[in-house]
Amino acid sequence: MQFQNNLEFARQLDAEDSLGKYRKEFHFPKVDGKQVIYFTGNSLGLQPKRTQRFVDEIMTDWAELAVEGHFHAEKPWWDYHEKLAKPLAKVVGAKPEEVTVMNTLTVNLHLLMVSFYRPTAKRFKIICEEKAFPSDQYMFASQLRFHGLAPENALVELKKRDGEHFWRTADIIEKIKETGDELALVLLGGVNYYTGQVFDMSKITKAGKAAGAMVGWDLAHAVGNIELKLHDWNADFAAWCSYKYMNSGPGNASGIFVNQRHLNKKDIQRFEGWWGTKKESRFLMKPEFEPMANADAWQISNAPVLSVAPYLASLEMFEEVGMEALIAKRKGIVAYLEFILHEVEKEVESTFEIITPEDRGCQLSVFLHGQGRSLFDYLMNNGVITDWREPNVIRLAPAPFYCSYEDMFRFGQILKKGILENV
Ligand SMILES: Cc1ncc(COP(=O)(O)O)c(C=O)c1O
Repeated sequence: MQFQNNLEFARQLDAEDSLGKYRKEFHFPKVDGKQVIYFTGNSLGLQPKRTQRFVDEIMTDWAELAVEGHFHAEKPWWDYHEKLAKPLAKVVGAKPEEVTVMNTLTVNLHLLMVSFYRPTAKRFKIICEEKAFPSDQYMFASQLRFHGLAPENALVELKKRDGEHFWRTADIIEKIKETGDELALVLLGGVNYYTGQVFDMSKITKAGKAAGAMVGWDLAHAVGNIELKLHDWNADFAAWCSYKYMNSGPGNASGIFVNQRHLNKKDIQRFEGWWGTKKESRFLMKPEFEPMANADAWQISNAPVLSVAPYLASLEMFEEVGMEALIAKRKGIVAYLEFILHEVEKEVESTFEIITPEDRGCQLSVFLHGQGRSLFDYLMNNGVITDWREPNVIRLAPAPFYCSYEDMFRFGQILKKGILENV
């Protein structure tokens, strides 16, 4: 499609957008009384208006039923989390029994590493991306120390080629082959948080499995953003947070995937608690642990329903819309944003380098040559919520659920003004 940099054109695209009606289903912050242009769905998604109802329902049940709410609330709390499995499985391309919701992301990755990182004297290495999200780096280092291993010997960081901002799949596969039978685990971010690169999860998983390793994915920036087929790709495990593209609220419950082949096993290493034991006999308070036959076996504590409820509200919306429609809109809006950036570039001295490769989801990471932190501050003060990463990168992530084409056009106008005013 031939894009145009004007308001009428942007409004026309919005009028044709089948998801346009969802915009008013979200609460937008305001700056100077005006709804912001929100680019940080990759950090914290906006609050859906219906979420309040889901949370209020639990607050009311708690007030009116107290402990009886566990079994007698309209949505009883004791198995509340089970309602999420089916819709969530669709979002991540899994079977319902392969997913569950529990804890938070880093905690879940640690718990999954307990099961799927089982180093031996020969096979002990972990492949991860260089400069992985810091929490993942701390997790790797502390897991390795826990096993008595030194991160400098056991952690293999995938490097980019000199002068390039992205990882080449061929290089990753080569590194997997090279590490060979020393490789215990491949654990990467499905979408890199800094550059927005989408990894070829199918090919990388296949290579990792062929090397005899476990393969897991940190899907913080992937879930609700790109197409995922965890089951078909044959990944061993994955975990993600729900507060970015899934709009479930700050620090809220995380999801996990455990491949069917690891389910219903008693002999698997796992940190266990009473919510992972069979629900039929859970309240018999027996000493033996009888694992749930699905991913719920990894549940430890009784579910924090106040944090799971917003995730259920969000999944209701994902069910209504479907990933296919979200991805189609995402492709359109990101392409329009890229076009707008190049239009602005023609009218100013500065240049923008989009370091996100073509394999991308919502996020464009833009290196600002000749502009610095003051431009970022200008954007924030003028109603554009974006984020800044050292040394000079802004990350723009227009979430398809609530961002409009008009937002992209208006952003271009504000950006141009900010640069021309030489902030
Ligand atoms: C890629 C990635 N991994 C891990 C985390 C940590 O998440 P949490 O604080 O929920 O454990 C984040 C948070 O933004 C992230 O982006």
